[in-house]
Amino acid sequence: VTYRDLLSEYNLSRFERLEILSFVSGKSKADIIRDIIENCPDGIANRAREIAERRQVGEPLAYILGEWDFYGLRLKITPDVLIPRVDSEELVSAVLDKVIDKNAELEILDLCSGSGCLGLALLSKLPNASLTAVDISEAALELARQNSEILGFSDRVKTITADVLRLPVERFFNAQFSILISNPPYVTASEMKNLDRSVADYEPHIALFGGEDGLDFYRAIKKHWSALVVHDGIIGLECGFAQGETVKKIFDGKAIVIATGG
Ligand SMILES: C[S@@+](CC[C@H](N)C(=O)[O-])C[C@H]1O[C@@H](n2cnc3c(N)ncnc32)[C@H](O)[C@@H]1O
Repeated sequence: VTYRDLLSEYNLSRFERLEILSFVSGKSKADIIRDIIENCPDGIANRAREIAERRQVGEPLAYILGEWDFYGLRLKITPDVLIPRVDSEELVSAVLDKVIDKNAELEILDLCSGSGCLGLALLSKLPNASLTAVDISEAALELARQNSEILGFSDRVKTITADVLRLPVERFFNAQFSILISNPPYVTASEMKNLDRSVADYEPHIALFGGEDGLDFYRAIKKHWSALVVHDGIIGLECGFAQGETVKKIFDGKAIVIATGG
């Protein structure tokens, strides 16, 4: 069977088909497109079909493959963390846009860091910056450490287990950051009941629920964590599509706010 015809019986997007074919064959997506009329070896074809079967019943592709692209980085992803969203790349770009000296020794704080995607993407463009990644999930931080290692950023990354809804733990007492970035849980109580199956059945609920009105983390970040940012520092936040104005107000108009999802 040719790469073009393989998986044609499954209801997958072209993007997903390419992701799967690239993963099982070890070829880049560009090479798959180039070789699209070549025959695919049986073993590889069978692995592709197994993945397509799982995808077909709803499992997110990022969890099946165990890796996913974010901001040009290939990150390791497990069901312990949210799958990095394309929308969040916009937050990274908006924050980078505000950084005047890209070679400065910047300290970055990524709150509710999950896979580490936001902070690691910043590190990939800021060669002398260091990252402190904070999450309540030890499994998420372990993954963030693995991703730092894979990308060669280990010596620039520190992980700290902490509850962002509470006051910073002792290790932060003398800390100062030039950039605070966060995509915290922001789903409201009522939205939690109507989540898309693909999210509700597979992604960690602790990564989603942001309290009754979805804004608990923004209030806590403002109250407890924003004081750790230097006076001309950058605060960049992602929130739900209907929360943008409220989150801007919580931060007195002094944060970059990217409202996404919906
Ligand atoms: C929406 S996910 C975002 C992950 C990552 N920043 C991203 O953009 O893909 C939120 C993260 O917050 C973490 N989290 C949930 N409650 C927390 C808390 N009280 N303190 C710190 N982190 C928390 C979850 O473990 C999850 O990794």
